[in-house]
Amino acid sequence: MGILKALDKNLNLTDKKIILRVDLNVPMQEGKVTDKSRINKVIPIIEEFTKKKAKVILISHLGRPKGKINEKLSLKPITPILENLLNSKVYFSEKSYGPTVIKKSNEIKSGEVLLLENIRFNKEEEANESNFAKELSKIGDIYVNEAFSCSHRAHASVCEITKHIDSYAGKLLSEEVNIINKLTNKAEKPVSCIIGGSKISTKIRILSNLVKKMQTIVIVGAMANNFIKHKGNNIGKSLFEKNQKDLLIDIIKKCEKNNCKLIIPEDVIVAKSFESEAKLKSLNKIDDTDIILDIGKNTLNKIYKIIDESRTILWNGPAGYFEIEKFSTGSNRIAKKITENTKNKSLTSIAGGGDTVAAINKFGCSDGFTYISTAGGAFLELLEGKILPGIKVLEIK
Ligand code: 3PG
Ligand code: MG
Repeated sequence: MGILKALDKNLNLTDKKIILRVDLNVPMQEGKVTDKSRINKVIPIIEEFTKKKAKVILISHLGRPKGKINEKLSLKPITPILENLLNSKVYFSEKSYGPTVIKKSNEIKSGEVLLLENIRFNKEEEANESNFAKELSKIGDIYVNEAFSCSHRAHASVCEITKHIDSYAGKLLSEEVNIINKLTNKAEKPVSCIIGGSKISTKIRILSNLVKKMQTIVIVGAMANNFIKHKGNNIGKSLFEKNQKDLLIDIIKKCEKNNCKLIIPEDVIVAKSFESEAKLKSLNKIDDTDIILDIGKNTLNKIYKIIDESRTILWNGPAGYFEIEKFSTGSNRIAKKITENTKNKSLTSIAGGGDTVAAINKFGCSDGFTYISTAGGAFLELLEGKILPGIKVLEIK
């Protein structure tokens, strides 16, 4: 990786309009933010700029609205949270680009903050569209990327925008990339990676490259359902990704070739719905109406053993639907076991991802890891050794 372009500490920022790409893609339930980690993390950065009398314009996405306005994915509810944490007024713009936004960014006073609506309401964002990025760039004088967690996305507000405006890597972004690189490049072996969560389509491809770098890969959460099904089990109504057979065969082959142990659940917690009773089942007992919502106790014991044998653990993606108590045991126990070994056996542990961090916080383990990254997908892609598109554009040429 090349050297990243950093903003000169002594640059006079008075009245400068800074477009700050942040990741406010926080876990939400019924319109309420359930974990503020990603917001908390950028507060000091915003404050640093407002203290220097800059005007801060925040760009972020929330969820995957696929280019359409979706009220449920509006960033508006984040405004009062930001106001509270910053202890100052934050303006919200229903539009995320165009003349009204440019006008508003000119009107706010130095030291003030303007939050723009979910940038992914515009289809041009994910298309990394050049004219759209150019329009976005007109909102400010300087662009700073503090959203490491979406720097694996070649999207307009992450990549293309940097072609049209003076652009820099934010302090947190650089710090996060450096720490993850440092901890993983010389990771003490055995290195194990626990991967879970529900973003199967994003993460399943990453596995093919990760198997070359890990001694063990443990697959939990919805990610595991594809593997459970592939082994010939019924997965009932559980979440899974269609048409992945060839990829799974390839991953399993690569594991054998690279001597990487692949661990998938051998028992699970199922329920007929979120509200109904949770039952422990072995894989051959799952029926057509079951939904897999957590890992079972045999699986957990196996994971304990892996954690005990490892010198480095990387974790991304919860083991189950931890937001509901009865499906939270897997994630809870993994978090606690890693914490225990990090503290007592000097295990190096790195966790990443919005939901994973939310789970770790929920179970009171936030001080139990060597490092906790806000990033999930970006963290995994960095581990794979990929050059992230959003970071590449910020390298000094
Ligand atoms: C994340 O939560 O990992 C980031 O915000 C990126 O979100 P995405 O996977 O929808 O691009
Ligand atoms: Mg996420």
